[in-house]
Amino acid sequence: MSAIEAAEIRPADRAGIAEAAAILRRGGLVAFPTETVYGLGADAGNDRAVAAIFAAKGRPRFNPLIVHVADLAAAERLVAFSALARKLAQQFWPGPLTLVLPRRAGATLSLLVSAGLDTVAVRVPAGAVAQKLLTACGRPIAAPSANASGEISPTTAEHVRHSLGKKADLILDGGATEHGLESTVLGFRGDACVLLRPGAIAREEIERVTGPLEKASTETISSPGQLASHYAPKARLRLNAARALPGELLLGFGPAPDAACNLSESGDLQEAAANLFAMLRALDAENPAGIAVMPVPESGLGEAINDRLRRAAAPRETLP
Ligand code: TXA
Ligand code: MG
Repeated sequence: MSAIEAAEIRPADRAGIAEAAAILRRGGLVAFPTETVYGLGADAGNDRAVAAIFAAKGRPRFNPLIVHVADLAAAERLVAFSALARKLAQQFWPGPLTLVLPRRAGATLSLLVSAGLDTVAVRVPAGAVAQKLLTACGRPIAAPSANASGEISPTTAEHVRHSLGKKADLILDGGATEHGLESTVLGFRGDACVLLRPGAIAREEIERVTGPLEKASTETISSPGQLASHYAPKARLRLNAARALPGELLLGFGPAPDAACNLSESGDLQEAAANLFAMLRALDAENPAGIAVMPVPESGLGEAINDRLRRAAAPRETLP
């Protein structure tokens, strides 16, 4: 397949996965589903391939990337686990948890995945397609969400094509992602565990293993996922709205007969998380004057949902 014909969407069947693995091994970019969102993957050991991710996304700076591996043993070859980190991995992997840990001296990883930090974010995805791709490729895969920088994370293959066009060499279609929200990112400060990005595993679930999580420090942005405006639709977002004003479309949560879209009529936070990005995208496509969003409770997955909503509502950053 030539690079020109690529960005083709292929079903994530045996042949599609074999083709995707071959593209990754020769330094190409493959968008693929994980259980959270679609990732734009490259061989994490190949500097040029990792650099191509930043180019494809149009990232304004080298944000560090998550390295995906097939299992804990593969992760142990790349980063140094503390006892607590290992306990978290055993509890939540495979699954939507990312651990930021010290990079091992001999790790066969492009330095660019760490963007100048001495740590690497690693995760073992639970998605069946991601697992098969990691096995077929036989290498760690660096993958940010498969959207252009600043846009909403994609939860379907069609979203990826819409956002990245032909910048991926291949898009593997595994249907809509299960969680619809990115992984929870944890870092470590001494013995303490720090929530760097709320995500698909709720704080409460993690705190059952770690005890109370520390807040990430606000002076230094230790995780660029914390940048204020990051997950931004074009339309202006108004949060905690009871109803839509003229020209606005209403994104509902709970009973809302006037909602243009409803995250979850029954008020189920898991359902809301899975719908969040796809619905923001659908409403944004109508070019409304604004999107009014009904309040979402802050408990459980609500913390991550509200985090993404606040970012989407924040004034746009000026790029350096
Ligand atoms: O669910 C997910 O995590 C998806 C799928 C594809 O796995 N990936 C994803 O990647 O959301 P990305 O690049 O969009 O977000 C990665 C997050 C960012 O907030 C980044 O700053 C943080 O992880 N991160 C990565 N490496 C880090 C490091 N060494 N130190 C601190 N934060 C790091
Ligand atoms: Mg992202």
